[in-house]
Amino acid sequence: MGASLRGQVAVVSGASGGLGAHFARFLASEGAAVALTARRLDKVEAIAGELARQGHRAMALRLDVADAASIAPAFDEIEAVLGPISILINNAGVGGDGMALDMTIEKFDETFDINVRGVYFAAQAAARLMLKSGAAERGDARIVNIGSVAGQTNLPGLSAYCGSKAAVAMMTRVMAREWARSGISVNAIGPGYILSGINDEWFETEGGAAQLKRFPRRRLMQESDLDAALLMLAGPAGRAITGSLFIIDDGQTLPGGG
Ligand SMILES: NC(=O)c1ccc[n+]([C@@H]2O[C@H](COP(=O)([O-])OP(=O)(O)OC[C@H]3O[C@@H](n4cnc5c(N)ncnc54)[C@H](OP(=O)(O)O)[C@@H]3O)[C@@H](O)[C@H]2O)c1
Repeated sequence: MGASLRGQVAVVSGASGGLGAHFARFLASEGAAVALTARRLDKVEAIAGELARQGHRAMALRLDVADAASIAPAFDEIEAVLGPISILINNAGVGGDGMALDMTIEKFDETFDINVRGVYFAAQAAARLMLKSGAAERGDARIVNIGSVAGQTNLPGLSAYCGSKAAVAMMTRVMAREWARSGISVNAIGPGYILSGINDEWFETEGGAAQLKRFPRRRLMQESDLDAALLMLAGPAGRAITGSLFIIDDGQTLPGGG
């Protein structure tokens, strides 16, 4: 436990489970006040309650990032309760799996509405508030987009997902450039495979087991394997880091057999 984020207000999208719930707990343990958002309000309320009982400042809010128009009002509500937002963890995402020949328009749109449009307009809403509140000018303003190794490599059966995560990587770079002078840092983390609701069914299958055997370390990552990068990008140590994508994958995408 540290205190390097004391005084900061962090918003985590998709905080009802998986990586997002872990990020929220971790940011709170580092001293940030945390707003947990997701579609399943009961889940984020339970985690916010748990954090509050531990003495952290935390709140829960229902937010469907596919409804882009609802993001800015939700962030206003968070500021009214916790104070100026200085950190956004743009984590909400869906797997969007399916072979390209079978992909439906509805599933493709859902994947991009959440993984791309949701990330884009959450970043926009947060950046506008960071500029208005002075968090940007102070140098505290950090946006961390959760991409994926899938944005950098071809994964058959995940064309829509890979495309959406490649978009996250590029949006990160352009936003970082647009907002560099005003003091907002925008970076992305591209995790490898971590067991969560997005892939647990896959790793139960023969294909999933075979994929696991091809990883050099023959294991899935743990959520906490991302803590060091998250803290670096969200906290004071990341002052000069903007426009970067950090692939953290336990070597899972390193070429070569054995
Ligand atoms: N696990 C991995 O191996 C891995 C690897 C690379 C990247 N990632 C990325 O990490 C992020 C988190 O994934 P995860 O593995 O933790 O998956 P997960 O366990 O399925 O969690 C996904 C989270 O996103 C939320 N979400 C989905 N659609 C949403 C929407 N429309 N609005 C708001 N929240 C929404 C879900 O909450 P609600 O259903 O309550 O809304 C849930 O909290 C994703 O962006 C994913 O692409 C994961």
